[in-house]
Amino acid sequence: MITNGSERGLWSSKLGFILAGAGSAVGLGNIWRFPTTAGQYGGGAFVFVYLASVIFICLAVMIAELTLGRHTERNPVGVYKALAPGTAWKYLGLLGVITGWGIASFYSVIAGWTLGYLFKTATGAFSGLSPAQITGEFTSFTSNHVATIGLHGVFMLITMSILFGGVKGGIERWSKILMPVLLIILILLVVRAVTLEGGGKGLAFYLKPNLENVSLKSIAAAMGQAFFSLSLGMGTMITYGSYLSKKDNLISSASWVVTLDTSIALLAGFAIMPAIFAFGLNPQSGPGLIFIVLPNMFNKILLGNLFGAGFFLLLAVAAVTSLISIVEVPAAYFIDELKFSRKRAVWIAGGGAFLAGIPAALYGNFLGWMNKIFGQYSLIIGSLGVALFVGWKWGTAKVEAEIRDGNPDFQNAKTYAFFIRFFAPVSILALLIFLVLFPGLF
Ligand code: PFF
Repeated sequence: MITNGSERGLWSSKLGFILAGAGSAVGLGNIWRFPTTAGQYGGGAFVFVYLASVIFICLAVMIAELTLGRHTERNPVGVYKALAPGTAWKYLGLLGVITGWGIASFYSVIAGWTLGYLFKTATGAFSGLSPAQITGEFTSFTSNHVATIGLHGVFMLITMSILFGGVKGGIERWSKILMPVLLIILILLVVRAVTLEGGGKGLAFYLKPNLENVSLKSIAAAMGQAFFSLSLGMGTMITYGSYLSKKDNLISSASWVVTLDTSIALLAGFAIMPAIFAFGLNPQSGPGLIFIVLPNMFNKILLGNLFGAGFFLLLAVAAVTSLISIVEVPAAYFIDELKFSRKRAVWIAGGGAFLAGIPAALYGNFLGWMNKIFGQYSLIIGSLGVALFVGWKWGTAKVEAEIRDGNPDFQNAKTYAFFIRFFAPVSILALLIFLVLFPGLF
C-alpha cells in the first residue's frame, strides 16, 4: 500500500464521502441529460433499460473503481502503474484523464448557460414571450459568444476555487452544503410539476415502458447515460475512492451513491415530463429541451420567475459539485505523477479544460460531438476496461480482501465476481460490437 502524500487528502467521514460522491454523480446528467435523453429514446422503455444497467452493470463497476482507488491511494494512471507495472494498462488511466478534460470542457459550457438562464429567469426576461420567441432567445443567447465563453470561464473559476481548498476543505465542505440545497429545490419543483393540469400524460410516457421503443440505439443511449450519471469509466470514482479511509464500508458507500443518484435522476423526470406534456411541447427536442421548454412553463405558472430561478439554480448547484469531480481527475494525476502542488495542478487542469471548451461554446454541433465521444463512448470503453482489469487481471480475490477492510462480514464475493468478470464486460462488449457492426442502426 502506498501512503498519502502531503498534497493528497482524505474524506473526514463516511457521510463526507457519500455527499461528495453523490455530488459528483448528481449533475447536469440527472437534470438535463436524463430527462431529455429519455424523451428522445422512448420514455419508459429507456428508463427501464437505464435502471437495469444501473443495477446489473454500474454498481459492480462503481465498487471496482472505489476499490482500486482506496487500495492504491492513487489517481487513475497511478493505479495501473502500481498494480500492473510496465504494462499498457496505464493507457486506460490516461484515457480517463483525457476524458476528464473532454467532459469538463463542454460540461462547463452548459453549466455557464445555466448561470445565464438563472439571471434571465430571475429578472423576468421571458415574461410574456411566445414559445417561438423563447426558442429565439435560446438561439440568440447561445450565439452570443462573449456571453457563453465568459460564463464558461466564470463557472470554471468557481470550480477551481473550490478545488484549491483540497479534498476536505474544498470538495467535501461544499458538497455538504450544496447537496441538501439541491434536494430541497428539486422536491419543490416536482410538487409543482406533478400538480400541473394535463401533466398525467407525461407521467404515463415516462413510466410505462413500451417495448416497441427499445432499439439498439436506445440501449446504447441508456447504458451510456448510466455510466455518465454515475461518474464511471474515467476514473472519477477511482480518484474519490483514493481519499477513502480503510475503515469505510465500500459496498454500502457505493450503494448509497448509486441510490441517491438514481433517485434524483428519476425525480428530475417527474419534474420535467409532466411539464412537457402539460404545455403540449415535444419530448424529443433533445438537449435544448430544458432551456427552451421550461421557460414556457415558468411563464404560465404562479410565481414562475421564482420557480424558474430556483430550477436554474438547482442545475448550477448540481453542475458545480460534478465539475469539481471531473477536473479533480487530471488534477490528481498532476499531483501524484508529476508532483505538482495542488494549486498548480488545479490551474493547469481547469485552465486546460477552459481552453478546450471554447470550440464547444462557439459551435453547438461540436458540443454535441464532444458529448457523444467523451460523455458516452469513452465512458463505456473505460468502464469495460475497469471491469476487465479488476475481474481478470488484478483478480477478484484482491477486491474481496480490500472490501473486507471496513466490511469484515462481506458475504457476496461470488456474486460480485460473477457480475464484474462476466455480466458487466460481456454486456458492454456485446453492445460495442453491435455498435461497430451496425453503425447504420444508430
Ligand atoms: N455524473 C455527472 C452528471 O451526471 O452530471 C457527470 C460526470 C461526472 C460524468 C464525473 C463523468 C464523471 F467522471
